[in-house]
Amino acid sequence: MSTETKLRTVTTFRLAEMKNKGEKISMLTAYDYTMARILDKAGIDVILVGDSAANVVAGYDTTVPITLDQMIYHGQSVVRGVNRALVVVDLPFGTYQGNSKEALASAVRIMKETGANAVKLEGGIEIIESVDRILCAGIPVMGHLGLTPQSINKYGTYTVRAKEEAEAEKLLSDAVMLQESGCFAIVLEKIPAELARRVASELRIPIIGIGAGKWVDGQVLVSHDMLGLNNEFSPRFLRRYANLHDSMADAFRQYIADVKQCDFPNESEQY
Ligand code: KIV
Repeated sequence: MSTETKLRTVTTFRLAEMKNKGEKISMLTAYDYTMARILDKAGIDVILVGDSAANVVAGYDTTVPITLDQMIYHGQSVVRGVNRALVVVDLPFGTYQGNSKEALASAVRIMKETGANAVKLEGGIEIIESVDRILCAGIPVMGHLGLTPQSINKYGTYTVRAKEEAEAEKLLSDAVMLQESGCFAIVLEKIPAELARRVASELRIPIIGIGAGKWVDGQVLVSHDMLGLNNEFSPRFLRRYANLHDSMADAFRQYIADVKQCDFPNESEQY
């Protein structure tokens, strides 16, 4: 039996069950059909259609410019490649912060037009009305606290967050608030491991970390980073599982040389 057919479909209930059993949750990003299909067949639990697409696909410096239509395009491509994993799509900057009705309209578009299972929003108390309204419509919401890249223009830096006590206490109270609103999980990005441990142990819902240490309920990375497609980005929390940048550059150079030397195609590669 293949890995694909052996594993149970992942739902938000299954993630809660995993937390209760102490089974770690694996999550990675995808933005297109091919990557999503490989991830799903490998047995990933959650696929995040992250607004990091703005960085790794579109080449922007921040996640701020990506639009709802672009996120929907990426979401549709990913969902077509997935049989088992839970698919979560990021609501992009500017589509949920100011107005909870607009937030609901954005989330509804994601759900109807992509077929994804849930949406993710960055922030705590500041966006709680939007979170509540989306949840009231029956749309599962994943929270995101700590480093929230959509607020880069407010903070001006991607350094570790919540190192000071006041910020750590706010993060904890935001996390509790998101849980009480009904969020099914929360991503904690780039915060001290000890604080992440406290949040994961005090909350009932799964806590997924990125740069938040090992004492959380699951881990997420940007696939392009862990595959080594981009070797300029190397924060301490990133473990590289491949060096695809160099493998691809070698393959491209070999192809160029083969074409130039009339070595490709050969007789068995033509009709
Ligand atoms: O957009 C993204 O890829 C994310 C992860 C870093 C969690 O939000």
